Amino acid sequence: MSSVLSMTPTELHTFLYGVGLGVAVAAVSSTLLFSLPRAVVSSQSQAPKKSPRKRSALKRGASAAANAVEVAEEANAETVARLRGMFSLPADRLQQIVKQILVDMKKGLEKDGAANIKMLPTHVTRRPSGKEKGTYLALDLGGTNFRVCEIILDGAGGSTMHQSKFVIDEAAKTGDGTALFDFIADCVKAFLGEYHKDQDVEAVKWKLGFTFSFPVDQWTINSGSLLIWTKGFTATNVVGKDVVALLKSAFERKNLNIDVTALVNDTTGTLMSLAYSKPDTYVGVILGTGSNCAYVEKIENVIKYKGPREGVKEMLINMEWGGFDDDMVVIPRNKYDLKLDRESANPGSYTFEQLISGMYLGEIVRLVLVDLVKTGELFSYSAGGSPELRTKYAFETAYMSRIERDYSYQLMETKTILEEHLNIPETTLADRKLVKAICEMVGLRSARLAAAGVAAVVTKINKLGAPGVTVGIDGSLFLLYPHYQNRMRDALREIVGISAENILLEKSQDGSGTGAALIACLAGK
Ligand code: GLC
Repeated sequence: MSSVLSMTPTELHTFLYGVGLGVAVAAVSSTLLFSLPRAVVSSQSQAPKKSPRKRSALKRGASAAANAVEVAEEANAETVARLRGMFSLPADRLQQIVKQILVDMKKGLEKDGAANIKMLPTHVTRRPSGKEKGTYLALDLGGTNFRVCEIILDGAGGSTMHQSKFVIDEAAKTGDGTALFDFIADCVKAFLGEYHKDQDVEAVKWKLGFTFSFPVDQWTINSGSLLIWTKGFTATNVVGKDVVALLKSAFERKNLNIDVTALVNDTTGTLMSLAYSKPDTYVGVILGTGSNCAYVEKIENVIKYKGPREGVKEMLINMEWGGFDDDMVVIPRNKYDLKLDRESANPGSYTFEQLISGMYLGEIVRLVLVDLVKTGELFSYSAGGSPELRTKYAFETAYMSRIERDYSYQLMETKTILEEHLNIPETTLADRKLVKAICEMVGLRSARLAAAGVAAVVTKINKLGAPGVTVGIDGSLFLLYPHYQNRMRDALREIVGISAENILLEKSQDGSGTGAALIACLAGK
């Protein structure tokens, strides 16, 4: 039989009943047993190598187990306090960040390259009326998966969609650009083959919105060149090229007759998709693999826009806020943030995104854990942690979600992640509490920075007062990460006070599909 201390709650329950203990005793005992960290009980053979505090606790013997727990937690408290100092963002700092974002937004609208925030004109000059109608294809490149969708806009603010998701592997992301676009065209062909079996797909003239969620210098509604790859993509021969032309050539190579009527960023799509049913939506935000924002700007403020202005009152601006503070003047960075950036695909670029988005949060946590293993503050019974813990990007942001949602007394979900997914041989409750605290710090900082971004944009468009504004938000952090939305709301209140009541943060799902279809539809008019 496994040791009592290594049992799951169910096993322990069975064990206690099996050895004839009564219900009352079982309840008391389970509390007692669960409060003993395994590592302390087995301390004789596995003395910690690097933690003097823990070592001194062990000297007092196993009977002092409860004491040892306290000592471990006291040591953790020091570690936690130190780390909090590195990750916290008090309200006054958030307000400074907002001010700086506003300065950069203004500069970015004046001239290309004048600010870290690119402020890219999207050529989308109208928000939907809700009456748009028709069937469109949409492609979504830039998240974890590549998607092909077919969207039917019903003309009454509603839509239906079917889609296929394709895993986009590292080779496609980082290899030859032509191969990446061929992969996209192959996926479209497979999608049409599946959903339009009875049609001659090559004979139909399809209309398509291409959601390409990277910074693009957009020349027209359906052309523009990639400025720089983000989110770990590095495919060759794409930067500086018209991505719509690359897509069209790939379609031609595959005999697909598709009219790419719009080139769209996911943030723009997110805004448009919610605005279809909620006309007071002026901002679209992505909090997912990457992070970014688009909003509706008065055309007279878009000084650098060179296209036609006649009859144009407003334009959606793709901020590319991921690049904010790349010169690192206003947001405090710690050694983990700097290391993450140094080892990223594009050092010095999109460092705001690195502090916020799902692609990076798990890696920041991992870097902290690796460091604490070295200093002996963590996993001292599993010296060195594990090879998995030392593998870049092996600590997924999804683990953080699960850990932050783990309210079990012994942090059993956290234990599963650490011991089974990351193969750390043995963790104590104190270890797990520390890991959870780190996830909280990193997750909280992300939400607070995202809130600072939203506060800046709403201030910029003068919508802090009543009746307020709706901010459409998509992405796994906002939709799935525990407490994320409340943390954003709390931070907004700290930044703008009672005006936060006028900012409605609302889910806007599938901007990359529906939003792209809407823009394709409006572009065709
Ligand atoms: C990255 C891209 C940006 C996109 C965001 C969210 O920041 O550069 O275009 O909107 O990720 O996907």
